[in-house]
Amino acid sequence: MNAIPIATKPFFGQKPGTSGLRKKVTVFQQPHYLENFVQALFDVLHGIGGSAAGQTLVLGGDGRFHNRVAVQTILRMAAARGYTRVLVGRDGILSTPAVSAVIRRHQASGGIVLSASHNPGGPDGDFGIKYNVTNGGPAPEKITDAVYARTQELTSYQTMETADVPIGACGVFMLGQMQVEVIDPVADYADLMRDLFDFDAIRALFAGGFRLRFDAMCAVGGPYAKAIIEGELGAPAGTVVNADPLEDFGGLHPDPNPVNAEDLIAHMMRADAPDMGAASDGDADRNMIVGRGFVVSPSDSLAVLAAHAQRVPGYRDGLAGVARSMPTSTAVDRVAKRLGIDCFETPTGWKFFGNLLDAGRATLCGEESYGTGSSHVREKDGLWAVLFWLNLLAVTGKTVEQLVRELWSTDGRCFYSRHDYEGIPTEQADALMAQLRARLTDLPGQRIAGVQVAAADDFAYVDPVDGSESRKQGVRIMLADGSRVVFRLSGTGTEGATLRVYLEQHEPDVSRHSLPAQTVLAPLIALAEAVAEIRRYTGMDSPSVCT
Ligand code: G1P
Ligand code: ZN
Repeated sequence: MNAIPIATKPFFGQKPGTSGLRKKVTVFQQPHYLENFVQALFDVLHGIGGSAAGQTLVLGGDGRFHNRVAVQTILRMAAARGYTRVLVGRDGILSTPAVSAVIRRHQASGGIVLSASHNPGGPDGDFGIKYNVTNGGPAPEKITDAVYARTQELTSYQTMETADVPIGACGVFMLGQMQVEVIDPVADYADLMRDLFDFDAIRALFAGGFRLRFDAMCAVGGPYAKAIIEGELGAPAGTVVNADPLEDFGGLHPDPNPVNAEDLIAHMMRADAPDMGAASDGDADRNMIVGRGFVVSPSDSLAVLAAHAQRVPGYRDGLAGVARSMPTSTAVDRVAKRLGIDCFETPTGWKFFGNLLDAGRATLCGEESYGTGSSHVREKDGLWAVLFWLNLLAVTGKTVEQLVRELWSTDGRCFYSRHDYEGIPTEQADALMAQLRARLTDLPGQRIAGVQVAAADDFAYVDPVDGSESRKQGVRIMLADGSRVVFRLSGTGTEGATLRVYLEQHEPDVSRHSLPAQTVLAPLIALAEAVAEIRRYTGMDSPSVCT
């Protein structure tokens, strides 16, 4: 069998965003669209026309519509490229953290994740592709930029004419000279979790009647949660709900926040609610933690895990440091200060944590967008966070709410909210950001909507490990007491633009800790409107999603 060249042409806009190339399924279904991107990727990785001989590629996705077709296309192109071996998840399934774990464990040269994360799926939904490098983490910008440049000049790609590889059962197959190993998607990942957490303690917790409701949102987290939480840890059958990954996620929007996981929230607010609720997203890298009648913000979750990490076997020796994305609340900064460890503030997107983790400077990282993780892989990891919480509840004997309230009484509460304005015409969103940026120098010192602005800037980051610089990562308006409003545009959407407005205010007074966040943040919300003229630019009276 020989590689055959197929003529192609550049497609507009094959530019990876915050997390890979994401487009509508219908865009990916265009003839040669996916192939064009994969060829560009391989050309960047192996040199134009170069061979991948001797290398192992990991391949899998979140099971969304188009996953199976894409897996076969990529297998053929990998064989044509001369890869020695591909490890593919059974049925084409691998969660994002599992891809990262498999790359690292099998010393693969990299992996391809087929996912659009929490974006809806199905024939009218979204699809996506992302490349992870040999440390298991998302490719850095110098690779994704080069891939984009290459997509714009391609005239042909290499593939093979072969039948589909049967990926429905584990086994080893040959595709030309390339070995295709169909692997159990859960096994390597479960081994890793067993090394990190006290499974005996968690087993005892469930044996004692502890009740969890894990909502996998009909996405790829289901098989992992079922095998580990019900299978190994002895939680009763039915603990994991919406556990079968469906191509359209059952019509759900698999993003674990209180708005999209409203069914879980409703269960957790009932009088007979379980002790803990949790949800994960499309590709199982995000998580939401809920106590009985009590929703935990992702920023607080990260801070609680950092504060108690040494109670968990995998982190017994303490944390080298912690890292959070810039818009994430400063709750973890306060914990780091108490622990005497470094806290890094990075731009949005998990790829910015990679160098800190590789260099051993950070052990735990997190984002306000329901992402938490550690140095065990190079992606955020939804089920890992849930197991971490279970381990803490098992060894402290406390409830979810108790652990969070303890954090607040020690460090004060960081009231926090994110307001999203979705589907704005791109020009309008760009204009809003441009006028904000133009005003940065004259905002400090001004009193606006009754609030005194202390400082304003556009976040820039210099990576402390490799010195690389990322500019224009979000406009920050800061008050003297550390409160802030941050504005940035989403880099993961597929339709129009999404404006994200992040609001944070620190409150040391315990008697105010039970106030509703939107009430406490009202002055900052008014400031955001006054400074950015959100209504005028977006034509929207209120955010489309508020978490
Ligand atoms: C969003 C989140 C960001 C996360 C990314 C990938 O990106 O805000 O924290 O890393 O999804 O899950 P955004 O759409 O804001 O660019
Ligand atoms: Zn995700």
